[in-house]
Order: sequence, then structure tokens, then C-alpha cells
Amino acid sequence: MAINYRRTHYCGQVCAALEGQQVHLSGWVQRTRDLGGVVFVWLRDREGLVQLVFDEATCGGECFKLGASLRSEYVVSVVGQVRRRAPEAVNPKLPNGDVEVFVQEALLLNKSETPPIYIDDNANENELVRLKYRYLDLRRPTMQNTLRLRSRVVSAIRGYMDENGFTEVETPILTKSTPEGARDFLVPSRQHPGAFYALPQSPQIYKQLLMLAGFDKYYQIARCFRDEDNRADRQPEFTQCDVEMSFIQPQDIQGVIEGAFARVFKAVKGIDLPLPLPRMTWKEAMESYGSDKPDTRFGLKLVDVTQQTAHCGFGVFESAAAEGGTVRGINAKGLGGKMSRKEIDSLAEFVKTYRAKGLAWVVLNPDGTAKSSFNKFLTPQLLADLTAALEAQPGDALFFVADKKSVVLQSLGELRKEIARRHGLIDHSLFNLFWVIEFPLLEYDEEEKRYVAMHHPFTMVMDEDRELMKTQPGEVRAKAYDLVLNGIEMGSGSIRIHRSDWQAEMFELIGLTPQEAQHRFGFLLDAFKYGTPPHGGFAFGIDRLVMMLADKDSLRDVIAFPKAQGANCLMMDTPADVRPEQLTELHIAVQNPT
Ligand code: AMO
Repeated sequence: MAINYRRTHYCGQVCAALEGQQVHLSGWVQRTRDLGGVVFVWLRDREGLVQLVFDEATCGGECFKLGASLRSEYVVSVVGQVRRRAPEAVNPKLPNGDVEVFVQEALLLNKSETPPIYIDDNANENELVRLKYRYLDLRRPTMQNTLRLRSRVVSAIRGYMDENGFTEVETPILTKSTPEGARDFLVPSRQHPGAFYALPQSPQIYKQLLMLAGFDKYYQIARCFRDEDNRADRQPEFTQCDVEMSFIQPQDIQGVIEGAFARVFKAVKGIDLPLPLPRMTWKEAMESYGSDKPDTRFGLKLVDVTQQTAHCGFGVFESAAAEGGTVRGINAKGLGGKMSRKEIDSLAEFVKTYRAKGLAWVVLNPDGTAKSSFNKFLTPQLLADLTAALEAQPGDALFFVADKKSVVLQSLGELRKEIARRHGLIDHSLFNLFWVIEFPLLEYDEEEKRYVAMHHPFTMVMDEDRELMKTQPGEVRAKAYDLVLNGIEMGSGSIRIHRSDWQAEMFELIGLTPQEAQHRFGFLLDAFKYGTPPHGGFAFGIDRLVMMLADKDSLRDVIAFPKAQGANCLMMDTPADVRPEQLTELHIAVQNPT
């Protein structure tokens, strides 16, 4: 075989079944070991590693010299024969550690400087360095596997949507502000001085226009942009699977989406998701878990004890009830004996970060007695009432927060997760995927002292709650739904308002004047005059889904070239300044450039 760099096999595929065969491999040098007269080289490509043997006695002087000159990340091509290793030489750390390739010819294709990071999954490299040298980081097997998993996820989604009669339509990136409510990324216009495009926060408006245009079943693997603070589950640019359908009810779109998830789980995890997925109302999620995206892999549910504590003499509990607030508790089952006073104090500090003023607690001793942070008021009757409400037994630890409802729900919701994390109560083998339905239409914005749309202002009210819009807007439920997986919001959607009289009613409720509405969404409202079908949709985050399937903690681990914490790219060094002429062309003057 004449040597060039076209291979017959991937390194990771060389195995005992190829014994005796000649193979042609190309890849990167992982590491070398020179034993004098024999050089062992691990060669790596996307499928894994294989051991090459440069044996001076058999491969010839030139070839051996080349083998001995190899360094980490050099690019080489070799022709060699697959041989079984002697039993004592088998390397159990390599899947193909029972074979090696005896090199007959070798070609050095390129050299490499010493890489700044180890191309090894076990190397504990600083993330900032990994991001700076992302192209090297991506050579690591974990990154290779994750991006290939991602590709399979998208491919499964495309196949499923295609089979179900959906049309993929691309929508503009240079557009106008969309109603998702985050800050926009703006692009200055050269041709229109002083005017700006906004990058889409989602294709929301376009997909509604596509329903109007009669496309009926639309989807898109769409890039979205939101200028919001970066968190582990947020990136400034991310990818959604965006879907919209006409003439449907919530259960129709939910059926399509859960079918897509089932397809993905089967394709990449071999898991059969039982359909239909469970449903939980938003109210139940908030009341029982203190969150609209509950992690249901463990218990520690919130229990309302406002009644039981209303007249107990303990000022903290009594005043919360008297001021229209609430008292709720959680039962850390069996953890009473396992929590030191120091830990309980640290949990009290923890809830303060969620604006709770404090954490009241009761530890039930195994002998039936109890100790508590409000011992003075813990009468036998109150103890009996609380243990009954929380189904508590000796050995349990009970925690209570009294405050206004939003503070109580959020702080206890976070506390249950924190206790579960600290005490290993989470079963990481579970994928708890379910719908949260019947979201409120509106939420009260304390700062602006007005109602705002909880999802977005095109969300349809539930038929049975339409009458409440005038009398109790805060109680009105929407045809809006989220999909939640292990405590993370995978996606959300709603049925949209398709009649202009209903839309006007909604704008009025959220205090958007007809002029403002026309200014922000005029083209949509105008278009809606021309026979808009009833429609609704959903969008889920591909990055978040892959993060969960790949069991990663950060979106940065599932995006090839992600942004770092400060929304910057360390590798390309973006954002970056531009030449003054470019700014002039764009009619832009930068204030206080640093
Ligand atoms: P929403 O704003 O809830 O809905 O977004 C839907 C899903 O997109 C993902 N997502 C993100 N992923 C990574 N980084 C981010 N910054 C980020 N923001 C959102 C999440 C989220 O659940 N147009 C509506 C959908 C609709 O009504 O059809 C929308 O975009 O997984």
C-alpha cells in the first residue's frame, strides 16, 4: 500500500477481528513511549486510540527515526499490521488494548507546538484556558462525544418533524424586537442612519405570520439571541426547536412535542418514554414544590401550616398569617439525626439569600421529644398539629418559613433542592419529564405596579377564565404550558390570541396603549386582520436538552464555541473594537471608549 493520508480504518475501530490485516490510519499523537529500539505511540482520531509500535528491527531505519521524533499532537499517517498483544501486554485501559499496530511505513503530515492543555478527559484543566484553546479542547473524547450526541438529537428531531408533516422554514436574523422580554442585541444599519436591527430572541412573530400564511405545521431549528446575564443554563446565543401549528388545542401541540422527545430519548439513550407525559398544574407545582419547574426526583414537598400556626403565640408565624402571608414547611425525612446545629444554621443563611427573614425548625428526636428554634411556643398541641400536617416521625427534621407567599414558596423551593443536593437524595438515573400546564396569564410587576404577560402578550386565556379577566386578572389562567425535565425548563409554549378584539383586551390589561402596541407589533396586528387561523406553538432549547442527555452541568459543555461568563468569546476575543471608519459608516460614535 502506497503511503498517503487516506485511511482504511479509524484508530478506535482497530480491534482483534482485524488481526493480521494491514490498516492505514491517520490521526494525532496522544503520547509516545521510547523504550530504545521500540517506540510505542498512541494514535488518536474521533473514534478513539490505538497503540502503534515502531520497531526498529522490522520497520526500517527511516521509519523508526520518524517514530522516535513524534511528539504530542503531531499529525501522522501510518500503514501497519494489526497484531494481538501478548496476554501480559494487554492494556485494560484501552477498549482495543488487546491489539497493536506494527508500523511498516509512516508519514509525518504536520508538527504541533506543545499544546497548552492536555487532550485528555481526565485532565482537570481550567475552563478559561479550555475556552481560549477551544479547538484543542474539542479534540477531547468527551467533547467529541457530546457534539456527536447533539448532532444525533437534532437529526432525530428533524426526522420526526418531517415524518409528521412539518415544514422547516428559516426566518430572518436581522429583524425587529420580539416579545420574549429579554434585552435585544442590536445591529446598526449602514443604509438607515440611526436605525437598528434587533437579533431575534426567538422566531415568535415570524412563526405566527407563517400560520397566517397557511403553513399550518411549521418548525425550525432556530438560533436565538438574548442579551441577558449568562448562567449555567443560559447562553446569549442558543438554539431552539421552534414549532407552530394551526387549528389545534394545547393537547395537540403537546402530543407532537412529547412525541419528538420520545423519539430523541429512544434514539440517543435507548429509553422508552411512557406517553402521554404526566401533567401538573402550575398551581400544584408552586404550592407543592415552590417552583414552576419542579424537580420531582425527590420528595420534600411544601406543606401549608398557616392554619395550624395562626394562633400559636410565635410572632413570626402569627404576623405572617395576619398580614396575608403564609407559613409553609418541609419535612427532611430521617435527616434529624444527620444535621448538626451548624448545618441547620447554614440552611437558615441559605434561605436568606431568597429574601426569607429566617428559618424555623423542629428536630424530632428518636425518643419522641423534640428540639426547636421556637421551643417556647412549641406546645404539645402545636407539635402534634405540625407533625400531622407534615406526616413527620421521630428522626425527621422540619423546616418552616413564614412570610409573604412569593418569598415562602421560593425560599422553601430552593431549600428543598439544597437539602436534596447536600444529602444525596437525588436519583441521577431518573429523567422526570412532564408538563406544567395552566400557567397564569398575567403576573404582577411590583416595580411597575401593573400586570405584565407571564408568557408573552399573544397568549390565549383559558375559555373558562375569560370572565375573570375584568374582575380578578391575577387569577386568570392561560393556555400556556412548559415542559420540565429534572427541575429544568426545557421549553414553553401557548395557544395564541388570533382575534383582534381579544388582543386589544389583553393589551389593555397589561397597560399597553393602542399606540404602543401598534408601534411594537403593528405589522403583526395589521396582518392579523386578514383571516388569522387559531394557532399555537412551542419552543424547546436544544442546548438544554443536550445538556441533560449528556449529563452536563453547563450549556458551555454542549456548544462547540460557547460564550464565557461575560458573554465574550475567549478564543476569538469577541466582542472587539472596530476600525473608526467602520463606525463612521454606521453613523455611530462610541461614548467613553475604554
Ligand atoms: P421561551 O422564552 O420560554 O419561549 O424559550 C423557550 C426555551 O428556549 C430555551 N432558552 C434558552 N436556552 C439557552 N439560553 C438561553 N438564554 C435561553 N432562553 C431560552 C429554554 C426555553 O424553555 N417564543 C417562545 C416559545 C413559544 O411560545 O412558542 C419562547 O421563546 O429551553
